[in-house]
Parts: sequence; C-alpha cells; structure tokens
Amino acid sequence: MPPILEVKNLIKTFKTVTAVNGISFTIPPGICFGLLGPNGAGKTTALEVIEGITSPSGGEILFNGAPQTEAFREEVGIQFQHTTLLDFLTVRNTLETFRALYRDPESMEHLVETCNLAEILDHMNNKISGGQSQRLMLALALLNKPRLIFLDEPSTGLDPQARRNLWEIVRAIKEDGKTIILTTHSMDEAEYLCDEIAIMDHGTIIAQGSPPELIRRYCRGGIISLPRANITIPLSQLPLPYKEVNGRVEMTTETIDQGLKILMSKGFDLSDISVHSPDLEDVFLNLTGRKLRE
Ligand SMILES: Nc1ncnc2c1ncn2[C@@H]1O[C@H](COP(=O)(O)OP(=O)(O)O)[C@@H](O)[C@H]1O
Ligand SMILES: [Mg+2]
Repeated sequence: MPPILEVKNLIKTFKTVTAVNGISFTIPPGICFGLLGPNGAGKTTALEVIEGITSPSGGEILFNGAPQTEAFREEVGIQFQHTTLLDFLTVRNTLETFRALYRDPESMEHLVETCNLAEILDHMNNKISGGQSQRLMLALALLNKPRLIFLDEPSTGLDPQARRNLWEIVRAIKEDGKTIILTTHSMDEAEYLCDEIAIMDHGTIIAQGSPPELIRRYCRGGIISLPRANITIPLSQLPLPYKEVNGRVEMTTETIDQGLKILMSKGFDLSDISVHSPDLEDVFLNLTGRKLRE
C-alpha cells in the first residue's frame, strides 16, 4: 500500500529559532508512528506543520501521495497538547455538540465504547479527572472517522493507571485500522505503542526504526552500572566501554554474565550495582551522551 504520509526535508523556523531542521519520514497506513525526543526537540512544531496548523518554512508534506488539500482536514483527527473543554457541558453534551459539526460523524456508541466513556457521560467536563479528560479528547479526535490521527504527548501528566488505560485505547484505535502519529518524551510509551520511531533532538531526526531495531543498532548486550564513588581506579582503565551518567558509571558488555565475570575477577566493589538490558533510553544516551529526561 502507498504511504499515507510522506514528510520530506521539513523545516520550520521562528524568528531566531529553527525548531524543525529538515526532517523526513514516511508512514505506511495502519501503524503507530512516534516522534520521540526531549522537551524542546521540535516535536510539537513538526506535528503542527504536518497538521496544517502552521505553514512550513521549507520542505514537502504528501498525504496519500499528493499535497494536502482541504480534504486533508476531513480525513485527519487531532488531539492537541493543550485544549480547554467548556466547563458547563457534560461529556455527553460535548460529544453531541461536536458531532453536530460533521456531515457523517462517528456513532456515539463507537466513541463511547472505544474511549471508555460510558461511566462519565453525564459528568460535567470540569468534574472529570485528567485521564478521563484525555479520553474525551481522544474521542473528539475520532469524531470525523479520520484515517490518520495526531496525538501530541497523549499521556503526559497522567498517573500510571490512567496512562495504561490510555495506552490500551490508543492500541484499540490502531486495531480499528487507523494510522496514528504521536509525540512523546517517554521511552516506555514509545516502546509500548509505536511500530516505528523517529528519535528527534534539536530539530533533527537522529535515528529511526522499530524499537527492537534501534536497540540492536545502537546498543550492545547489557548495561552494568556502578556508583562512580565505588570505582577506585581511573575510569580510563576500566575493562569495559563506559559512560558517566548522574554520578554513576554505565558499562556496556556483550552479555551481562560476561561483564559481571570480568568485574568480579578484577575485584571491583559491586555494592549498589544495577544491571539491565538496553532500552530506548540507552539508545538516546548512546546517540547524544544525554538522558532523554534531563
Ligand atoms: N511559536 C514559537 N515561537 C518561537 N519559538 C518557538 C515557538 N514554538 C516553539 N518554539 C521553539 O521551538 C523549539 C521546539 O519546540 P517544540 O516544538 O514545542 O518542542 P517539543 O514539542 O519537542 O517539546 C523550542 O526551542 C521552542 O522554544
Ligand atoms: Mg511538545
């Protein structure tokens, strides 16, 4: 199938800031595509240009192989990072009000079921929790039966339980055959939801692939971390490749087993050791020398 969205060398500059500096990617239909990166990376700006909310400073965006026309607006659904709901409406009123704006809106039943809204339909918008409000926003993004859905940091600020609920809904939307493009600064969210990820930093894409591909490409077998203070030799003499991160030294090793044997045979103090298989956080660290959330 031809790609649903192609972004070619997209650039967006504000007066003195180049927020998006020549990014390119292609999204086939039916996947969840993630823009993953720290705050200020340019994710929201990129999304807003692709959504047609702001105009690009350069580059090209193709929807179904052609430049966007008015019809684009009718085929996409957008969940904004910050939207205000009208306090004096109930959840049901809100859905009905917005449904009335479309020629052929999604059925109330389907919206309520997909976004798990049955229990709060008669609650006032200002009396619902953050997680419930995000679910309502998702329902609003689905109103016009879009093929492509934009989610900007959908779970930011939610507690762990509400995040999980939201993730299940995003998965259900994908299983419904929709294509999703989302932004996140959370690597576990990206790993859980996304089939394909573009890692953004300072306005550019520094790596792209599926989560397992990225981990294979940029990380080795295992990571062993020791407190910096417990290492008594100069770091340059360590038997394994390392990085210093937040007062700890993270060493990479072909296998965790082998790394531990080496450290033990050399008499290292292994108190407060931590060991893990690499994840997207390590991919970002290896690419930039920084933690994603710093
Ligand atoms: N309207 C604007 N005017 C000027 N600078 C902006 C504007 N919007 C975003 N920026 C800047 O562009 C960069 C990227 O911001 P943003 O796209 O919001 O990043 P992210 O969503 O990844 O956190 C930041 O340096 C931000 O300050
Ligand atoms: Mg943002």
